[in-house]
Amino acid sequence: MKVQVCIIGGGPSGLLLSQLLHLKGIDTVVLEKQSREYVLGRIRAGVLEHGFAALMREAQCGERMDREGEIHEGFFIAHGGGMSRVDLHKYSGGNSVVVYGQTELTRDLYEARDRMNGKVLHNVEGVTLHDLKSDAPYVTYRDGDRIERIDCDYVIGADGFHGVSRKSIPKDVLREYERVYPFGWLGVLSRTRPVSPELIYSKHERGFALCSLRSQVLSRYYIQVPLTDTVDDWSDEAFWAELKRRLPEDVAGRMITGPSIEKSIAPLRSFVAEPMRYGQLFLAGDAAHIVPPTGARGLNSAASDIYYLYHAMLGHYQNGDDTGLEGYSQKALARVWKAQRFSWWMTTMLHKFPDNLAYEDKLQSTELEYLLSSEAAMGSLAENYVGLPF
Ligand code: APR
Ligand code: PHB
Repeated sequence: MKVQVCIIGGGPSGLLLSQLLHLKGIDTVVLEKQSREYVLGRIRAGVLEHGFAALMREAQCGERMDREGEIHEGFFIAHGGGMSRVDLHKYSGGNSVVVYGQTELTRDLYEARDRMNGKVLHNVEGVTLHDLKSDAPYVTYRDGDRIERIDCDYVIGADGFHGVSRKSIPKDVLREYERVYPFGWLGVLSRTRPVSPELIYSKHERGFALCSLRSQVLSRYYIQVPLTDTVDDWSDEAFWAELKRRLPEDVAGRMITGPSIEKSIAPLRSFVAEPMRYGQLFLAGDAAHIVPPTGARGLNSAASDIYYLYHAMLGHYQNGDDTGLEGYSQKALARVWKAQRFSWWMTTMLHKFPDNLAYEDKLQSTELEYLLSSEAAMGSLAENYVGLPF
């Protein structure tokens, strides 16, 4: 097979790029290791920046998001038994975010690819990248006993943190920056009415908690847990009891609980790989960077990579202009690092760090007090949460 752009990974990054390029007449194939059912079974993030929502519309995939997604103009921070509201709309100059699950967004992208007869191959094994430094790179994969080959102009590594693309860059070229946090998030999805119409991020002595939602009948809640905990350590009853302990009394009092329909633990990690280009290979999304979920930046950072790559590819194929491709790594990383900073800051401000000095705990509380008392600090939080400009 010969295509212009060979995309590794059928998560949101790979599918969105494939869809955008297809609409401009650029030929792509997506190679996904898992089945579609598996990809759509993963419960992931749920907050979209307004810029990402616009990109979904440009990809002709925004209809259901606009119908079923909720526009949120603020969220709450719970602390010391009370709650403060962060008015995103006011402090970001009129912007907001869309609450719409990544699983639903991925489903919309798959459906759009189907509608347009896009080439998305599932269950491909042994994906290997070849001759990335030449102008004729190719990708091979196993299909049963056969080795298939795809010749292309460019390879996009959109295969997530554990994918093969980043690992195809020589070790002496790639520099990795990482911070692993000493805790994880235990998440529960339940078919219950959300306790609050807007998200609640809670800083508590017993650990962080988050009340989020997917719709008015589907709630998503998280609590900070030690890395040594497993899902089996947490019955539904134990989860609800601990969540309520970490929320203001009136919120806990109106919490509607129910059986969990999904329960998982995710460790918290910050990670960046540089550069995001090696020869004809371009990395995007989780393949190049990971953030802890506290600032809701993970999926959104993937979207900004796709925005830059999409425009760089248009420059190349429509105008013979390669400046976008040449500048991709630097441009994407500049925004990636700002998302890293914001996610690290939100995480550090709101979690319980077991090994903190008393001094550090004091600084942490002061950080939050300062935020809630300063219009300038609120402005900074809001502009980052709704998404910095691309
Ligand atoms: N070959 C082909 N596909 C692969 C390979 C491989 N060797 N390794 C991984 N994949 C697939 C995974 O199965 C997955 O479906 O690549 C896809 C990558 O998707 P995601 O992990 O969702 O990453 P991405 O598309 O960049 O999405 C952005 O940011 O914070 C997160 O929750 C957010 O998952 C979202 C991500
Ligand atoms: C979620 O709904 O899964 C979610 C929302 C906000 C975050 C993280 C996760 O910051």
